[in-house]
Amino acid sequence: MNVCVIGGGGREHTLAWCLSFSDSVDKVYAIPGSQAMEDVATCKNINWKDTEALIAYLKAQVVDLVVVGPEAPLVDGLADRLRAAGFAVFGPSKAAAQLEGSKVFAKNLMMKYNIPTAKYASFSEVEPAKTFAQSLGLPVVIKADGLAAGKGVVVAQTRQEAEIAIEDMLSGNAFGQAGHLVVIEEFMEGEEASLLAFVDGKTVVPMIASQDHKRIFDGDKGPNTGGMGTYAPAPVLTDDFRQVAIKTILQPVVDAMAKEGHPYVGCLYAGLMITKEGPKVVEFNARFGDPETQVVLPLFTGDLGQVMMDCARGQLKAQAVTWSDKSAVCVMLASKGYPASSHKGDVINGLEDVQGLDQVYLFHSGTKKVDGHYVTNGGRVLGVTAVADDLQTALDKAYACVDKIHFDGQQYRKDIGQKAFKHKL
Ligand code: AMP
Ligand code: GLY
Repeated sequence: MNVCVIGGGGREHTLAWCLSFSDSVDKVYAIPGSQAMEDVATCKNINWKDTEALIAYLKAQVVDLVVVGPEAPLVDGLADRLRAAGFAVFGPSKAAAQLEGSKVFAKNLMMKYNIPTAKYASFSEVEPAKTFAQSLGLPVVIKADGLAAGKGVVVAQTRQEAEIAIEDMLSGNAFGQAGHLVVIEEFMEGEEASLLAFVDGKTVVPMIASQDHKRIFDGDKGPNTGGMGTYAPAPVLTDDFRQVAIKTILQPVVDAMAKEGHPYVGCLYAGLMITKEGPKVVEFNARFGDPETQVVLPLFTGDLGQVMMDCARGQLKAQAVTWSDKSAVCVMLASKGYPASSHKGDVINGLEDVQGLDQVYLFHSGTKKVDGHYVTNGGRVLGVTAVADDLQTALDKAYACVDKIHFDGQQYRKDIGQKAFKHKL
């Protein structure tokens, strides 16, 4: 079959790469893709919002399955439009993507179905919001309802910080429409893990758990980013906790979505806090994580195209989802000024020194080719993934490659994966 990936970042590079060696897949397309993705996909620069042009191209290339990478098109209903045009789609409908698109929807659903998450309430008025925030003590978490590019969450350490966040969001100044409703929730203590799952509307098959590093600086300091690095498997999610998470979170939410009339098809991403009482939901995302994908898929040993098509057809089978017992690490290289801003056009040197090394993969997040050389073209630039028999070897390998790659203003974290060593490996 022919498959098309929508998107052009590091996650989509990884998806297209993994699809490119699926036995079931003849040809991989990417819209818009990126220059770096050309080595695994045929890329075409069409805006996903131009439904007519998109569908005409997919039909002309005889695409069988469309994989929607980012949240924005999913929340906008692209999967519904593609299904209506006759394509098999890996990705939730607009209604099902509300799990990510509206924090109020996700929290209300969890409350209705008793899915473990932080205590909360939602507000559109400033004063009652402040009163509720005060009742929760400190720290307290304030979240804009809608999509805010990963920036809609404030973990307030002081009452003043909480009040400013509430006022900024509800006034519409901070996130526009996305912030006209806020969720205020209790702070959960623990370590985070990302548990992604294949879902076909009813059946849930979880992937290997991974852990992201969201803050820009070592030791989880500084502002939040889209993710500065990941590793998998994440030992904080022990086998026991994993079973609990499947039984109390993943399966119940998929059952709940079906019951509510919005069956969920695609990758369901559960951001979990592993608390003393067990795993609780921090957030749901309606798509693969970035850069979680960059460590999860290199450990996948099944046929990704087939598994995604089975999800789209409601025929997912657990036996088709198989994994290697190795470890994977992704170190994200970011450009000068990230996350407040980004710097474009800095020449990236040293890529040729790591290209083609055994079990080393470069997944491009924001690069562009100018005169035959890659330059920076975004905040997150390049994910350097290494796979090895154990986490330490994978870390050594990834950082040896990072040492060979240079561009002006390059930033990366040196402590990716260190939390794993607190646990029994
Ligand atoms: P989110 O976008 O919902 O994943 O939130 C971004 C980050 O804020 C999460 O990765 C957590 O580190 C933190 N966070 C969000 N909600 C909570 C909570 N209720 N308790 C503790 N930390 C939280
Ligand atoms: N890495 C966090 C996310 O994809 O939302």
